[in-house]
Amino acid sequence: VTKAKSTVAKAELGDSLEEFLTKATPDKGLVRLMMCMGEALRTIAFKVRTASCGGTACVNSFGDEQLAVDMLANQLLFEALTYSHYCKYACSEEVPELQDMGGPAEGGFSVAFDPLDGSSIVDTNFSVGTIFGVWPGDKLTGITGRDQVAAAMGVYGPRTTYVLALKDFPGTHEFLLLDEGKWQHVKETTEVGEGKLFSPGNLRATFDNPDYEKLINYYVKEKYTLRYTGGMVPDVNQIIVKEKGIFTNVISPSSKAKLRLLFEVAPLGFLVEKAGGYSSDGHQSVLDKVITNLDDRTQVAYGSKDEIIRFEETLYGKSR
Ligand code: AHG
Ligand code: MN
Ligand code: MN
Ligand code: MN
Repeated sequence: VTKAKSTVAKAELGDSLEEFLTKATPDKGLVRLMMCMGEALRTIAFKVRTASCGGTACVNSFGDEQLAVDMLANQLLFEALTYSHYCKYACSEEVPELQDMGGPAEGGFSVAFDPLDGSSIVDTNFSVGTIFGVWPGDKLTGITGRDQVAAAMGVYGPRTTYVLALKDFPGTHEFLLLDEGKWQHVKETTEVGEGKLFSPGNLRATFDNPDYEKLINYYVKEKYTLRYTGGMVPDVNQIIVKEKGIFTNVISPSSKAKLRLLFEVAPLGFLVEKAGGYSSDGHQSVLDKVITNLDDRTQVAYGSKDEIIRFEETLYGKSR
């Protein structure tokens, strides 16, 4: 049996971020934008480590007024996008209106981000992260997650990682921040397979959503391992790193959707699907949902194909 030779240059583990990106896409603007965002993530990782608190404005150990760490992350990301010269519009969970970043609409990109996902668990020292999605041109509404040319997350845990995927390059790729400040390619994920691992968000919805309760009972009966931190970034990152499992964030009559399609759900959907996993809002891939308003919210599940089929069937009686 002869294996078909891939036409794209193969990324090798150990590559620097720039080496990888240069092999992965001929688009110099996209390379530059992803490099600039990497710089911002590196700075945010440092700020998260030393910030005195999260939430509202706070005071550091010297008595100086500090920006809350999520607002600081927000500012660093807007600055990185301006500096890239390839960003037309940007908006964030903290500033949910389009900001003109001065880059071109033609050949440039528009970027949506959640600067610090899990800002309320910084003090408990759980992992937190940054999420962003990159769309071509000047539109962040009337588009879908599938239109993204790239998506990424920064994970600030015991290790700092930059996990990214590009539309025209296979796989989801993890870069580790080394001591000397460089990003090194350490993992590639192209498949999400079987594995009894569950990460049940918004569990309070089981109170008045009996179908969600049924799904949770299935995991318990089948002796799945529970791994949930309450930070969507580490909770979804584990599916990509362990290459198995399911993350759910389900709604109920008394528990409305919290997660935002543009800033959180679509970019993570892109990362999971490029990694060989699946996503769903209960009926369809979250990448097929049209983003009508910047603040659109949705329920979501990410995981292996089998787990997503079970999720849709248990909640709605059928899978697409
Ligand atoms: P953010 O910190 O950006 O506002 O969002 C945190 C999110 C997400 O990371 C997590 O899955 C979800 O909030 C958990 O919500 P609850 O703690 O309300 O269950
Ligand atoms: Mn968030
Ligand atoms: Mn946030
Ligand atoms: Mn928030």
